[in-house]
Amino acid sequence: MAKAAVVGPLGQPDISYIPDYDNYLARIKRRTETEVLTKHLPDGFPLQAENPLAWDGNELAEHHDWNYYLTDNDLSEIELALQHFRAQNLGLGYINWDTFPLPNLHKTLREISKEIHMGHGFKVIRGAPVMAHTREENIIIYAGISSHIAPIRGRQISQYNGKPADVALAHIKDLTGSVNSNKIGVPAYTHDKQAFHSDIGDVVALFSLAEAAEGGQSYLSSSWKVYNELAATRPDLIQTLAEPWAADTFGKLDIPYWLAPLLYHQPATDTDPERLVFHYSRRTFTGYLGLPRSANIPPITEAQAEALDAVHFTAEKYAVSLNFRRGDIQYINNLSLLHGRAAFRDSAEQQRHLIRLWLRDPEYAWETPAALQSKWNRVYKDVAPENTVFPLEPYFGSGNSGIRTGRSQVTERWHRLVQASQRSLLSTQSVWPRMKFSFRHQATIADHHKLSDQ
Ligand SMILES: [Fe+2]
Repeated sequence: MAKAAVVGPLGQPDISYIPDYDNYLARIKRRTETEVLTKHLPDGFPLQAENPLAWDGNELAEHHDWNYYLTDNDLSEIELALQHFRAQNLGLGYINWDTFPLPNLHKTLREISKEIHMGHGFKVIRGAPVMAHTREENIIIYAGISSHIAPIRGRQISQYNGKPADVALAHIKDLTGSVNSNKIGVPAYTHDKQAFHSDIGDVVALFSLAEAAEGGQSYLSSSWKVYNELAATRPDLIQTLAEPWAADTFGKLDIPYWLAPLLYHQPATDTDPERLVFHYSRRTFTGYLGLPRSANIPPITEAQAEALDAVHFTAEKYAVSLNFRRGDIQYINNLSLLHGRAAFRDSAEQQRHLIRLWLRDPEYAWETPAALQSKWNRVYKDVAPENTVFPLEPYFGSGNSGIRTGRSQVTERWHRLVQASQRSLLSTQSVWPRMKFSFRHQATIADHHKLSDQ
């Protein structure tokens, strides 16, 4: 298993991308014995989150079935929709619930969206006939079904073959056999274990085209369950998670780090219940493989290092394993669930291959935390059907490699949007003891492939 080198800025704690339990326990002991830790939660944060979203994966299957098995009627309807879409001779960016009609299955898929946003936060649709279709047909079916669950598709990369494009589909596949590992900065293109993390966007969809010869289990965990345990046992870590952290942009942008909390509290409103939002990528704080943490940004603190491990290991303790098979599609609420995977081994005959969409359902979407709005804009704003690309094969370009490329393709408009949100964030933070860098040195844009685990 490849392991990130522990290098980075002066003072960076001893922590790597692959979590180390003994290291975690030693840090707990050190900090609890030598530091005075607050016993209070941040103002307004709940003592406990009481909600179906706060589930324990060890017992969830006893009272909840997260699977939906496609019926023969569903499969017939999907084949008709595929033919209907083909007959219109449209580009794949035009796939939507009108061009890919599912008159009967539609209602079920809308219920699935409700479950994702207001229930347990995820659902797995099982039994898509992968082997009966070409790669492009599978992508059409996937995007078509998904359009009935969450109709807005996000862009995952903004360039394709050197030109601006809304790349809506990402391939999750081990490329270490064909790409030098020092050019890989995200675990998605390796066979490594993936620590628990969130992507960017509201709903993450993953479609399994093929399974590994061994391993590669897909894990989900409720961040609200994680919250409840930490709030009860280590409120100081909740404080830490709710303060701004310096996420590495890995030299891909003109500003070296992005400043934002990992945990947000949303009080109840007239229309929405009280919510907690977790959003974080471990590798932006520890580095990974070809992208170790940059030396010219602040180190994370010991408290942050402990909080990273506390979230990971608590998530692991309460996770479900999805037994994810070829033909399965998982849809997860990316604002409330954390996901990860086990390491795996491919063989010549069996190579794990998932394809991913980042989606949003305007009917049920949660409010986006203000500090994340610019990231969300980067994914969802102005995605145009005519510019949308669905690569048929894994695409490894400058936007998702581990190569530090300097200034990225960021418009001044994005800079202004993000700078405004960062200023607003800073003005609400009274103390950040490690803040030694001026505002102009902070990250101003969230390029999804540089700021999430993928
Ligand atoms: Fe991910």
